[in-house]
Amino acid sequence: MSLQNHHAVIVGGTSGIGLATAKLFLSQGAQVTVASRSQEKVNATLHELGPKAQGYAMDFQDESQTKQFFEKVSDFDHLVVTAAGGGSSHGSFRALGIDVARAEFESKFWGQYTTVKAALPFISKSGSITLTSGAAAARPMKGASTLVAINSAIEGLARALAMDLAPIRVNVVSPGVVDTPVFSEIDAKSREAMFEKIAQSVLLQHVAKPEEIAEAYVYLATNTYTTGAVLQVEGGAILSGIG
Ligand SMILES: NC(=O)c1ccc[n+]([C@@H]2O[C@H](COP(=O)([O-])OP(=O)(O)OC[C@H]3O[C@@H](n4cnc5c(N)ncnc54)[C@H](OP(=O)(O)O)[C@@H]3O)[C@@H](O)[C@H]2O)c1
Repeated sequence: MSLQNHHAVIVGGTSGIGLATAKLFLSQGAQVTVASRSQEKVNATLHELGPKAQGYAMDFQDESQTKQFFEKVSDFDHLVVTAAGGGSSHGSFRALGIDVARAEFESKFWGQYTTVKAALPFISKSGSITLTSGAAAARPMKGASTLVAINSAIEGLARALAMDLAPIRVNVVSPGVVDTPVFSEIDAKSREAMFEKIAQSVLLQHVAKPEEIAEAYVYLATNTYTTGAVLQVEGGAILSGIG
C-alpha cells in the first residue's frame, strides 16, 4: 500500500520519534496532522513540516479535548500515537509512590487508550492504528516495574484491539533507546556517557536515531497483512540482555 493521498494523524508528532514519523509519512506522499499539548511546539513543527501538514494543540489525557481534536480532523486513514509524558517512574518498586506510577499510566497507557477511542469513528476501515510501547516490556530491567507494566499493557491492548476492530489493523512499535528530547533533562555529558554505554552493549552498537524508528510506523501503516503485531526496533538490545 502506498501512502499517497492517505491522511495520517500523529499524536505526539511534535518531537522525537513522532516528529521523525511525521516527516517520513509526508515524504511518502501522505497528508499529515500532528498534535501535542504545547501550541508552541505545534507551531514550530508546522513551520518545519511545511504546508502539507496541519496540527492542533491537544492533551491526549483529556477525553473531551481528544474528541474535539478528532472531530476537527474528521475522516482519516492512519493513527500513530507516540505521545507520552513524564518518565519519572524509574526507581525501586519498594520506594516508588503509587501516585507516581498511576500518573505514568494516566499518560502513556490511558492517553493512548483515550486517543484510539476518540479516533475510531473517523478511521478508514482499510486504515491502521499504531501504538508505542518500549523494549522494557520484552526484557524487564531492574527499577522499571511501572514502565514494564505500561508497555506490556499497551501491547496487550493492541492485540485485543486487533481482534475487536478488524479489518482496521492495530499494531505496536516497541523502540529501544532512542536519542530524542525525552533525555534533554539529563546534562549533555551524562547523556553522552549513558548513550556510549548503551551503544557498547547492544548488538548494533549505537543508540537509535528517531528516523530509524519512524520507518517501523510506515511499515505498519502500509503493510496490509500485519495486525496484532509488536515490531521491536531495538538494535538487538533484548538479545543483548538490555531492556
Ligand atoms: N526515546 C526513547 O529512548 C524511547 C524508548 C522506548 C520507548 N519510547 C517511547 O516512544 C514514544 C515517543 O518518545 P520520544 O522519545 O519521541 O518522546 P518525546 O521526544 O518526549 O516526544 C513526546 C511527544 O509527546 C507529546 N506529549 C506528551 N504528553 C502529551 C499529552 N498529554 N498529550 C499530547 N501530547 C503529549 C509531546 O509534546 P508536548 O510536550 O507538546 O505535549 C511530544 O510531542 C513514547 O511513548 C516513549 O515512551 C521512547
